[in-house]
Amino acid sequence: MKLESEPQMPLSPHVGRAAFTMVPIVRIREENPHVKTFFFKHDLLAKPGQFVMLWQPGFDEKPMSVAFSDSKTKEFGLAVAKVGPSTEHLFGLKKGDRLGVRGPYGTQYSLPQKAKHKRIIMVGGGFGSAPLRFLTEQAVSLGFHVDFIQGARSEDRLILRKDIQQLGAHLHVATNDGSEGVKGLVTDVLETLLSSNKGRYDAVYTCGPELMMQAVGRLSEAHGVPCQVSVERYMKCGFGVCGQCDCGGILTCVEGPVMWYADIKKNPEFGSFHRDGSGQKHYFK
Ligand SMILES: Cc1cc2nc3c(=O)[nH]c(=O)nc-3n(C[C@H](O)[C@H](O)[C@H](O)COP(=O)(O)OP(=O)(O)OC[C@H]3O[C@@H](n4cnc5c(N)ncnc54)[C@H](O)[C@@H]3O)c2cc1C
Ligand code: FES
Repeated sequence: MKLESEPQMPLSPHVGRAAFTMVPIVRIREENPHVKTFFFKHDLLAKPGQFVMLWQPGFDEKPMSVAFSDSKTKEFGLAVAKVGPSTEHLFGLKKGDRLGVRGPYGTQYSLPQKAKHKRIIMVGGGFGSAPLRFLTEQAVSLGFHVDFIQGARSEDRLILRKDIQQLGAHLHVATNDGSEGVKGLVTDVLETLLSSNKGRYDAVYTCGPELMMQAVGRLSEAHGVPCQVSVERYMKCGFGVCGQCDCGGILTCVEGPVMWYADIKKNPEFGSFHRDGSGQKHYFK
């Protein structure tokens, strides 16, 4: 029993942040043969660009960007690509199964406060379109015109197209093999939009492979348009304690994942290499 006079131990500021909530899967939607969106019953209160740490009992926790977060239905959704043991196991789960979630963590995309034109561009590659869908929802509700460029190797790798169009965004698709939309890269479409509407965009937001984001940042900057990117590094704690997610002196779980391209472009590791869970370097190609 606790006595009134017992000294109180001060709580670490991380205690609340590190706690899991066990949440049930309420719906699973197959986006394509490689990506599924998992919807959970939980009022996450996330902002576009933030991520959660998702724990499947028996597996490591994995960071996942928030694709949907709705306080009315008290649901959130994560679009997950099957790439290895943990995501493969997740693909075998069903409605009603419960997973541990903590977060939301990290920085968010910021829409221009005093937008001159109220026109913005999203550039998503792979599952990078997931957090940008969430940002599009916020932007459209605030009256922004959104051009959404989505790129993939082929048509069967595209995701969330209907969701993006239903929000009222203008969807532009680029595939490497030309199986849908423009045959080429997202930067080809971005160049066309930025040149044909010169000076009429307030900002560009991107998420996807790092070399793609670097090219998007460079192009946006060349057209005088500010750009935000989402920098992913191997994450373990998710809130600035373990140091695993370091990118040239920046802890990407707290100072990112969302950062201004103008800031991160000076970082020698951005667009160069990332480290795996054991700290080994992998160069981007
Ligand atoms: C901020 C952030 C947001 C992310 N959002 C999404 C998302 O919305 N959808 C999605 O499908 N994936 C997302 N990822 C990537 C996702 O975390 C990895 O695909 C997943 O951890 C792979 O685990 P695995 O066991 O299936 O594969 P593995 O074989 O273990 O790894 C496959 C790849 O994923 C990377 N990876 C593995 N574990 C981690 C980790 N703890 N942190 C970062 N990268 C890791 C590896 O370096 C490797 O490149 C995100 C990563 C970060 C950092
Ligand atoms: S993941 Fe631990 S400090 Fe960023």
